[in-house]
Amino acid sequence: MAPASSILLLSTMIIAFLASGVLSDPDPLQDFCVADLTASPGVNGFPCRNASSVTVEDFIYREMVNPANITAMNRAGAVFGTVLRFPGINTLGLSMARLDLLPEGIIAPHTHPRATEMVYVEEGSVYAAIVTADNRLFAQVLSRGEVMVIPRGLIHWQMNVGRNNAKIIAALNSQLAGTQFVGRSMFGSSPQVPDEVLEKTFFIDNTTINQVRSVFA
Ligand SMILES: *[C@@H]1O[C@H](CO)[C@@H](O)[C@H](O)[C@H]1NC(C)=O
Ligand SMILES: *[C@@H]1O[C@H](CO)[C@@H](O)[C@H](O)[C@H]1NC(C)=O
Ligand SMILES: *[C@@H]1O[C@H](CO)[C@@H](O)[C@H](O)[C@H]1NC(C)=O
Repeated sequence: MAPASSILLLSTMIIAFLASGVLSDPDPLQDFCVADLTASPGVNGFPCRNASSVTVEDFIYREMVNPANITAMNRAGAVFGTVLRFPGINTLGLSMARLDLLPEGIIAPHTHPRATEMVYVEEGSVYAAIVTADNRLFAQVLSRGEVMVIPRGLIHWQMNVGRNNAKIIAALNSQLAGTQFVGRSMFGSSPQVPDEVLEKTFFIDNTTINQVRSVFA
């Protein structure tokens, strides 16, 4: 092959590699790699447990059988099936969650920095929304059986607008998508975000700032 065309081929392969790498977790190089959670995480995920000690139980996750613990603050809760709780998904590039919402409950505005998400409404009636980077709100009330996709990294939420409990199953294309709540990040961080920053961001005084902070304390 002529040098020019091999350089072109190499650049194309590098571009394809980079493009695939930014869309979800990297592809595994083995059939499975059940995480050894006792090892400290490496640069990108956990090392594999010895394959001869792996059993069918490593491929099954049962924590989503029961409803999530509901927090009084949001009247909602989540069971996360990330690699930290379900080591069998290590290196496989996906995870799941179960969301339970009492009437008027909300999974408050948050982002997943490392994953695109799909939410499937299994029960109830849910006001589901996305705000894009250019501040467009895409929102809709979803009913049983309906699905919404939430592009990676965008702020989104789900709120129960029905009379009964709502239940949502979420799938994410990262084994550890990260969940960053907007309110808690700004008002519930430790150490605190300085008053001056919050005053200049939300145009509120320190009395209001302290009121909101106390909710997250
Ligand atoms: C994995 O476990 C098997 C059975 O106990 C053992 O024979 C083998 O040496 C182990 N492999 C490694 C890499 O530790
Ligand atoms: C719910 O709370 C109990 C008691 O604190 C805890 O043992 C359990 O792991 C929690 N469940 C989830 C899914 O977080
Ligand atoms: C709150 O803001 C007022 C007005 O800027 C200031 O005088 C006061 O010292 C601040 N209080 C605290 C606890 O930071």
